[in-house]
This record gives sequence, structure tokens and C-alpha cells, in this order.
Amino acid sequence: MDFWRNKEIVLVVGGGIAACRTLDLIRRLKELGAGVSVVGTEAATRFVTPLTFQAISGRPFHGDLFDPTLEGGMDHIRLAREAHLVIIAPATADLLAKMAHGLAGDLATAMLLARTGPVLAAPAMNHAMWSHPATQSNVTVLTGRGIQFCGPEAGSLACGEEGVGRLATVETIMEVARRCLEPQPLTGRHFLLTAGPTREELDPVRYLSNHSSGRMGFAIAQAALRAGARVTLVHGPVAIPSPYGAKTIPVTSAREMHAAVMAVWDRDTANDTLDAVVLTAAVADFRPARREAEKIKKSLDSAGHIELQANPDILLELSQRQPTLKNRNIPLVIGFAAETGMALERAREKMSRKPCHMLVINDVSEEGSGFGVATNRVTLLHHTHEVETWPLMTKEEVGKRLVASITSSLSHPFHPVH
Ligand code: CTP
Repeated sequence: MDFWRNKEIVLVVGGGIAACRTLDLIRRLKELGAGVSVVGTEAATRFVTPLTFQAISGRPFHGDLFDPTLEGGMDHIRLAREAHLVIIAPATADLLAKMAHGLAGDLATAMLLARTGPVLAAPAMNHAMWSHPATQSNVTVLTGRGIQFCGPEAGSLACGEEGVGRLATVETIMEVARRCLEPQPLTGRHFLLTAGPTREELDPVRYLSNHSSGRMGFAIAQAALRAGARVTLVHGPVAIPSPYGAKTIPVTSAREMHAAVMAVWDRDTANDTLDAVVLTAAVADFRPARREAEKIKKSLDSAGHIELQANPDILLELSQRQPTLKNRNIPLVIGFAAETGMALERAREKMSRKPCHMLVINDVSEEGSGFGVATNRVTLLHHTHEVETWPLMTKEEVGKRLVASITSSLSHPFHPVH
């Protein structure tokens, strides 16, 4: 919430039907405390009137490069200088072409040429216009100059056709905009995370599982992405949206999760491109020894007895694999420990059984902690035996603080945990 407070945004609106959707973007930015000044092209005002932009933004609309009422006629320079971020939405093919060639014939393009700070472009256009070599080469030129892009997305377009050309959603534009402004200490780093529950099938209609929602792991993934990391997220069945930009690998069972994690570990430790592994998943320790092909009937003698078999333990296996990484970058391995009472004592025992660089402990029986709730109270147990207790925070805040702690650990040399 506080992130957007007092941030100054200049929104450049191009002339396309998606101009209507920028009204929601303005509303959302304002709700979160940002100030929004709208600069529109002449074509944009054919879709949305200056009065509408003015009413929604609560500020005068800027459309005229030669407005005689403006002192000194330097509106384009002032707007370019004062904004924390310039967002172009929709970035039309015409605007992108003008930017790529440094044209400055109207207020929007003159302001963009005078801009030295961060710029985010959210294109929207017909799919053939987007994929045209002229547009694609303009995008390449602009990317090379440091312009960030967000979308366009695939779907049905205003012209009635299907394809890539839709304006990204307001949530996506807001997320990418935030990443344009956040410090990026994890640029070039790669995080591997597990999250959510696993499901162990008993028969075609039943499974064994747990209450994990995936929220804690997804919050850590989001925080790592915001700090500039590349994120691979292996997750079990969850009902929450994936963080924008994560490479997700959805799995169902513990064995699938194990196989997915080991494949990434083997590939990326071999080429030294794995920096941290955070295992938040509530992996089922056991699975039914047999998965029945037919639904189990209550009349069967076997009903009431389920024979179980142990699942592979991902954390244990990674801690055993670390010493085998001779002369290679050793990823930081962080486990989670969900306990119900005597949490620290049990976590110490867990760490000696499955050595890792850090265990994040939460007592899921405590109020405000654990499964399904938005908050968490965690204690960190470092492999150096140091203990850190954090206050009750939202899972988003825990994720951010944990990523900050991992970032600082990554900047110091560390070793296999045994
Ligand atoms: N974990 C794992 N693979 C498993 C079980 C657990 O990778 N098969 C990981 C979890 O993702 C977590 C950590 O191990 O990071 C601790 O999980 P937890 O279930 O609390 O510990 P267990 O070792 O299963 O011990 P217990 O159930 O006895 O508490």
C-alpha cells in the first residue's frame, strides 16, 4: 500500500481503443496514493475526452505542446523531469515508431524525448501491427535504450480478431511499474522455490493433502522478482494467481515436485546459475502405497486401512547434494518448518536431521500464523545457531524481509552446510 504513496506518475495515453482502460489504471494508482498527470495525444482524445481524464485524475489534462496559458511553454520539460515514472498506455504502433526515431512533434513525444528517468510502455494494437517487422524493430531499439515493456497480451482484440495485441491488465501494469521503481539488488540471481501442498492420490476420486494455500511461497517469489531475481516456482495445486514473471512449474504429487526440483537443481548447479532455493511447500511425507484404479467401495474389507509409503524428502536430498558441488557456486538452501508447539526445539532437531543454511519456523497453531491466513509470525534459525524472532507481519512483509535477508547472505561467502 505505502509503496505508491506520493509517487508522481506521468501517464502518456496513445490513440487506441485501449485508452478507455487507462481510466482504471489512473483510479488504482490514485487509490494507492500516487499522483497521476495525464498527457494525451490528439488521437487519444478521440477515444476519451480531456474532461474525462481530468475528472478521473483530479488534475488538468496535458495535450498541447504550444499551450499559451503555460508559463514559459515548458510543460513537456517539467513533466519529463518531475515524474518518478512515465507509463505509456496504450503505447500504439505510431507512438513507438515516433519514439524510436526521436520525433517530438507533439506534447507526448516531446516529453518522452526529454525524459531521462524510467519509462514503461504497455503496447496495445492489432496483432498484425504488433508483429510487423517495423514495430518489432522499434521495440528492439527502445528496449536497447532502457525502455521497459509490459505486454501486449494474447486474446480477443477490439477489431474482432484473436492474437497478441491486448493491453496488459491494470494489475500487471502496476506490478511491472513497481519493479521499474524498486531497487534491483538481485539482478542476475536465480531463485528456485517450492510452494503449496502436494496431493497424493488414493483412487480416482480421493487424495491425501493438507491446508497449505501457497501464499507464503508466492509472497517470497513476488518479493524476489521485485528485487530483480529470476524465479522458478514449483508449486502444488493452489487457488491463487502466480506472481507476474515467475517461471511456474505446476505439479500435483510429492514425487512430481521432487523430480521438478531435482531437474532444475542438476541443470542450474551444473552451469552455476542457481543462487537460492527456498522450500516453503507443505510436501506430503507419505502417499498411499497403492493408487487404486477403481473408486474404493465402503463395502470392501480394506476400507479404513490405508497403507502408506514414504515420499522422497526434497530438503534432505538437497542438503546431501550440496557437498558434491565441488568448485561450483553453492546455492543457499532455506527450509520451512511448520510446527504445532515446541517450535524452536523441534526446528533445531529438524536442522540437524536435514542441514540447511536457514530454517524459517512458524507455529501453525498460533493465532495469525500458518495455513490460509494473510499473516505469519516466524522465527529464523540460522545454521550458525543464531535465532531471530520476527513480529507478526503480513505474508507479503515476511516475504520481503526474508528476501532482504537472503540478499545480504548472498553477498557474503558461504559454504555447504556440512
Ligand atoms: N520437505 C521437503 N520434502 C518432504 C517433506 C518436507 O522438501 N518430503 C521440506 C519442506 O518444504 C520444508 C521442510 O522440509 O521446507 C520441513 O518440512 P516439515 O514437514 O516441517 O518437516 P518434516 O521433515 O516433514 O518433519 P515432520 O513432519 O516430522 O515435522
